[in-house]
Amino acid sequence: MIFYFSATGNSLEAATVLGESLDERTIDITEAMRKKEFSYALPNGERIGFVFPVFFFGVPSIVCDFIDRLELKGVEHPYVFSVITCGEKIGAADKQFQKIIQRKGLDVNVCFTLIMPNNSVLWYELPTPEEQRSMLAAARIRMGEIAQAVKENGTDGYASTLGARINAVFMYSLYKHGRRTLKFHADERCTGCGLCGRVCPCGAIELRERRPVWVQDRCVQCLGCINRCPATAIQYGEATRSRRRYVNPILKR
Ligand SMILES: Cc1cc2nc3c(=O)[nH]c(=O)nc-3n(C[C@H](O)[C@H](O)[C@H](O)COP(=O)(O)O)c2cc1C
Repeated sequence: MIFYFSATGNSLEAATVLGESLDERTIDITEAMRKKEFSYALPNGERIGFVFPVFFFGVPSIVCDFIDRLELKGVEHPYVFSVITCGEKIGAADKQFQKIIQRKGLDVNVCFTLIMPNNSVLWYELPTPEEQRSMLAAARIRMGEIAQAVKENGTDGYASTLGARINAVFMYSLYKHGRRTLKFHADERCTGCGLCGRVCPCGAIELRERRPVWVQDRCVQCLGCINRCPATAIQYGEATRSRRRYVNPILKR
């Protein structure tokens, strides 16, 4: 069983490829949260995978919340693996994830990192289409390697250094105390299609008079709304007006 969270499709692609090559069922954490489905029965010997993006060197809030509520039945000592997608590096997300999983009485056997195009448009210019294509080609090779390692119940993966863990304390606190929605708004290009509200994993966006309104002051900060808007109409302050957006091709099919 593979649980995944994805905003712009990278982790969805990784979970889909792994699910197909390992013949494992994939479960969308956003859907499970919406439907309040937290209880899963597993046949003995089944592997459990978690695939999600790194946020500020740590684990997205929705993944933490989901695992806190998760009830797994029928497993004694399952092989647990994580695949953490990132634009560059995951910092200490492996350690944070391990701590969350340990609260469930489980252990993480291995953590794999998977570099994919960066979607963090609030702070950076994003890769060009050409750069995206070459990063995705490299990522697909890496997905095959990860699938093979999981098939062999491999344990040789990423382990954060002490330096990365110290750095992550500062970085993740920016996320923990940030995630404000105040600066999000739709500009004159908004067509009122409502996609932003439908993709928001935490119900932070409502459509009022065919315009998105951020109705919660904090969100997961997954950036699905801003990257996936078909009219490039969603902005965060002024800086994002001139920046590219990123959506993994799996979401365009
Ligand atoms: C709030 C936020 C924080 C991020 N922090 C990091 C980071 O610390 N390191 C990194 O390499 N990439 C970071 N990224 C980039 C994403 O982890 C990366 O693009 C990921 O593959 C997106 O996955 P998705 O398409 O499944 O949503 C961040 C993205 C967001 C939205």
